[in-house]
Parts: sequence; C-alpha cells; structure tokens
Amino acid sequence: MRYDQARWTDDGAEGDEGADERYEPLLTEKNSEEVEVDSPLPDDLTRDSLELPALEEPQLARHYTRLSQMNYGVDSGPYPLGSCTMKYNPKFTEDVAALPSAAVHPDRSERSVQGSLALMHGLQDYLARIGGMDAVSLQPPAGAAGEFTGILVAKAFHEANGEGDQRDEIIVPDSAHGTNFASAALAGYEVVELPSGDDGRVEVEALEAAASDRTALFMLTNPNTLGLFERDIEEIAEVVHDAGGLLYYDGANLNALLGQARPGDMGFDIMHYNVHKTFATPHGGGGPGAGPVGVVSDLAEFLPAPRIREAEQGGGYERFDPESTIGKVHGFQGNWLVLVKAYAYIARLGDEGLTDASAKAVLNANYLASQIEYEVPFEPFHHEFVASAGDQDAADVAKRMLDYGVHPPTTKWPEIVSEALMTEPTEIESRDTLDQLAEAFDAVAAEDDETLANAPNRTTAKRIDQTSAARNLRLSWQSLEAEE
Ligand SMILES: Cc1ncc(COP(=O)(O)O)c(C=O)c1O
Repeated sequence: MRYDQARWTDDGAEGDEGADERYEPLLTEKNSEEVEVDSPLPDDLTRDSLELPALEEPQLARHYTRLSQMNYGVDSGPYPLGSCTMKYNPKFTEDVAALPSAAVHPDRSERSVQGSLALMHGLQDYLARIGGMDAVSLQPPAGAAGEFTGILVAKAFHEANGEGDQRDEIIVPDSAHGTNFASAALAGYEVVELPSGDDGRVEVEALEAAASDRTALFMLTNPNTLGLFERDIEEIAEVVHDAGGLLYYDGANLNALLGQARPGDMGFDIMHYNVHKTFATPHGGGGPGAGPVGVVSDLAEFLPAPRIREAEQGGGYERFDPESTIGKVHGFQGNWLVLVKAYAYIARLGDEGLTDASAKAVLNANYLASQIEYEVPFEPFHHEFVASAGDQDAADVAKRMLDYGVHPPTTKWPEIVSEALMTEPTEIESRDTLDQLAEAFDAVAAEDDETLANAPNRTTAKRIDQTSAARNLRLSWQSLEAEE
C-alpha cells in the first residue's frame, strides 16, 4: 500500500487526521494587497484597483506543488481508464508545442505560416495513411465533435444523392459510447440501438434486420468497448453498403490497431481519430483535444473547410474549401497545438514505433487481466478488457482503489457486463506497474462491503456528488462566492 502525498499546510503543521484536514487556501487568502490599476482601456470597462496576492516565490511554488499533490494524474501513477485512454504524454511533444515558432496567430497570411501549413498537410497525410482513408479534416476539437462532423458529412452525401429525407436512421450497437447516440440524435436522426450478440459482438443477422433504405449510417467501434475485435467486419460492411448506408468508425480504440489493421481496409467510409488518446496530449477534463475526421474519396468534397493542400500555383501549401463543404465546425484549423503534438508523436515513433505501441497496449491489457482475481467474461480482448466486480459495487471498488495509490478503471460501462470494471492499462506501463495495479485490484476484491462503501480514506476529497459536479459546474471560486 502506498500513500505519500505531502500534508504540510502553510504554517508548517502536518495535517494528521487524513483527508478532512487537508486544505489549501487561495493565494489571496494567504496574503493580498490592493494594487492600483492604470489601464489605457475606457474607465467604464476597468476597475480602479485590483486585489492581488502578495507572496514570495517559494510560497507560490509550494502552493502550486501542494495543489498538484492533492490531485492524481498520469504523471503520478497508472491511470487505466478503459475507453477514455489516459496515457503518459511524452514531454518532448510539449517541448515541440512550446517552441516560439508554434505560437502562430491564425489570422496570419498564408505565405508567413508555410511551416504550420506543411505540418498540418503532413498530419492529414499521416492520419489518412494510418486509417486507410483518402482525405482528412483536422478541424473537429474532440472525438465527439468528430462523430458529429462525420454524421453531417454522411448527411450531406445522402442529400447530394437525393436520399437526405429518406435516410433518417443511424444504427448504434448497445456497447457504443454514449457520445455515438448523442451525436446521432443531435444531428436529427432516429437512433436504432442494436443489441450485442452473446459473444459481445455485432450479430450480422440482427444488423441485417435493422438495416434498411432508412439507414444513413452504422456507427461502430472496433475493437469494441469490450476490447473485442469485430471479426465479421467485412460482412458487416457489406450489409450496411447493400442497404445504401455508410459505415462509421469510432476511432477511440485505434491504439489497438496501429500498424496492424486499417479501418479503411475493413470497409469503413468515415472515421474520427481521437488524437488526444491515440497519439499524445492527455485526455481529460473535457479537452483540449482534437478529433480529425477521415473519409473515403466519395465523401471528401463534403469535409469541413478549410483543408490544407499543396499550393496549386507554385510551391508551398494553401488552405482550400472542399467543393460541397458542410462549412466550419471549429474556428480556423481546430486545436492547433494538440495537432502539433500529434504530428510530433507520429513523426518520432514512425511506422515501427506505432506498431510496437499497439502491440504493447494489447500485451499489457492481457497481462494485467491474467493477474487479477475478478472475472473477465468476454475474450479474447485487445488493448482493454472489462472485468466484473461480481457482488461488489463497481463504483465502490473504484473509490477504494484510490486508497491503494492507483487510479481506478472506468466503471459500470458497458452495461453488458454487470458491475463493469473497464480497464485499459495502455502501452506505457511497465510490468512492475501492472503488478502494482493487479495487487490493488486483488486487495480490493478481498474486502468487505462496508470498507468499500466508506472509501476513499486517503484522498484529498472523499466522495463527491458526481452528478452535481457534472450538472452544476462551478469553474471559478468567483461563481461560488457569488452564489453564497
Ligand atoms: C468509444 C468512445 N467513443 C467516443 C468517445 C468520445 O471522445 P472524446 O472524449 O474525444 O469526445 C469516447 C471517449 O472516451 C469513447 O470512449
């Protein structure tokens, strides 16, 4: 068992009674002074004075260090959130994104940002090759935004074929991520939920029954959220295409396939890449991320504008609007610095490195699953597995794992597995770390319900009201103060 977070408060006293004792005051609460504001802006837009913290550098450094120690992150330990893919973000990609030349204003002239355009053109190309797609847009800012964009592209395609009104359904398997259902509904489609077969995969007969001339799209994650490869993918593609629909690849699990197989070769027409999961940039707190969308050639004309191409007149690169573009889905090119990190990561790893990363992600998941007591009902899985907490409550298991110094897996989803513990150790973890994770799983598996229900005991915050935290966001202390 491991617990080593600093407990020193500002006056040097050690909080020894556990979580409730730990509290880090705001900088202004420590010491502040009123500073006069001399601003060139109009008087009615500015204040006369401002309360600012008045602290020495060591106090500041310790404040932020203490705050970071209250938290848990990929830099503190393993973070095996299934499907959400939290992996270590190599620091060299941060260095590249922090280069002064990466800080370009999006309104600068094309001629003065040729390096940035070359990078984006290169990334479009990398992603197209990795996914087996013909054209890529870098604009969408997250996987979910990529889904929505892909659906709009499919809609534009069907409309151009005179089938826009008729094709009003999108089929989504019951194991899919909630954003698939939400994106389809948001784009105005009827969502047809497809129950998984007994083996956790898509049942071709059930798909045949669901697909019709109303089908616009079938959205599929492969490997699916149970980590299972959809072995019948070629038949699935045939059924969807025979019905006149398109096949959408949710790229959240692409890090199981890099260099091994390509969605385009499996028959997918549209896909998004969660570059923040598969390549670099940690995924969390809602972003910032990037969810580029790739399509086969028939759909390229509908992609968001602008895209990047080699300049038609002379050398270099230029932005262009695809012929029948659906328009913009984000300002300028999307989350530029996230794209820089993705480019740097792919360029550094190369073909072999990416293939190796996938192989290790699959190996690590299989090793970890083989070391834990909890049952894993669906096999053979790839880069993630879904264990069942059995009689225990998966949410309690998760809270208790925090006491063992490791982050828990994703819980209670997919619902096909009761009390699901969806686990994705990723390629970055060493065997020692996987063993440490397995020990935590097994220790919690042996504990009684009361212990679990009272966990966590060793974290800064105990149980928070997660629903209110999500639905009633207070993103600054000012909003809290205003309410009070
Ligand atoms: C299977 C799957 N699809 C889509 C998404 C949505 O991706 P994003 O969080 O980038 O919006 C996720 C997120 O974790 C996911 O796991």
